[in-house]
Amino acid sequence: MTSPLRNKPFSVGTTFGINGIPPEVKTAGFEDSANPFVPKNDPTYVFRRETLRDVLNYLTTPGGDGLFLAGHYGAGKTSLIYQVASRLNWPLQAFTAHSRMEFDDLVGTWKLVQGTMQFVHGPLAVAMREGHIFTLNECDRADPGQLTGLHDIVEGHPLVIPTNGGEVIQPHENFRFISTGNSVGSGDTTGLYQGVNVLDIAFMDRFRMVNVDYPSVETERAILANKAGSLPEPIREKMVDIANNIRRLFIGNQEGVAPITVTMSTRSLIRWATLTLTYRNAPNALRYALRISLTAKAEPEQQIAIEQIARDIFGSSWSDE
Ligand SMILES: Nc1ncnc2c1ncn2[C@@H]1O[C@H](COP(=O)(O)OP(=O)(O)O)[C@@H](O)[C@H]1O
Ligand SMILES: [Mg+2]
Repeated sequence: MTSPLRNKPFSVGTTFGINGIPPEVKTAGFEDSANPFVPKNDPTYVFRRETLRDVLNYLTTPGGDGLFLAGHYGAGKTSLIYQVASRLNWPLQAFTAHSRMEFDDLVGTWKLVQGTMQFVHGPLAVAMREGHIFTLNECDRADPGQLTGLHDIVEGHPLVIPTNGGEVIQPHENFRFISTGNSVGSGDTTGLYQGVNVLDIAFMDRFRMVNVDYPSVETERAILANKAGSLPEPIREKMVDIANNIRRLFIGNQEGVAPITVTMSTRSLIRWATLTLTYRNAPNALRYALRISLTAKAEPEQQIAIEQIARDIFGSSWSDE
């Protein structure tokens, strides 16, 4: 079951669909795509050169570090890791942290299995033993006290499981530790996020930090072309413009302007485009799809502000009915 050493070279440019990278630039992955823990391939995923480079550098030479991807919601942090793993056939274990998460949730617990008590290993233990990537999503929602057990693990030390008779799991050579979060570990500085904790600086010190911002205009145009290609291009381009205008008003981005407290994430932008297609025969498809994708979640004044941005950009094709 243990994954073999990384035995297959992948050409970075063709594997990740990035132009201008010579074919001899390669990264190592796995031959076997049938492992059930290899994430499903999303062929519409658009890789960004810089963030991809940081992830591949980490996977290739972790050097005793973890990798932390920080950024606003729906910017593409989690999916980036899954899609890189998918392309390289690198199996992955994931856990999404929350305020009641305990270290044992990651390591394993005794459970009643078909009438007998068995120790069932958690995703971290499995990843370490089998040589998978372990992803701790929303890492900054966890109680920092529960993360102290991870300090040594991130650095490459073995996992000791006292509750399973002192079992020792040596980290497999292909084990990697990647966290995602909305903050950079110093708590929520924006007032937007509920339940983001200040993480122990000693924990954060073990990570390389990569910021994942919302993608550039070119990248988001490419994403919408992949996800909602039957929507006319001028409409998709306007949607991307509107998303970026909303983001400019998003809290903390612009001095002296009443900030809005929701923003158009890449996730909601994709939803807006695909729902516009779903409702294309209804009157006001664009506007209705925008409402259920985003504006219905905003305060009434903010709804008006967001709709105004859309109306300004779409001009006469934006109905006022
Ligand atoms: N570069 C991209 N290409 C295609 N889809 C993307 C891209 N970035 C984000 N998405 C889509 O947007 C959604 C949100 O992305 P996700 O990675 O879950 O965000 P985060 O973890 O930052 O909150 C997912 O459905 C994902 O597939
Ligand atoms: Mg995520």
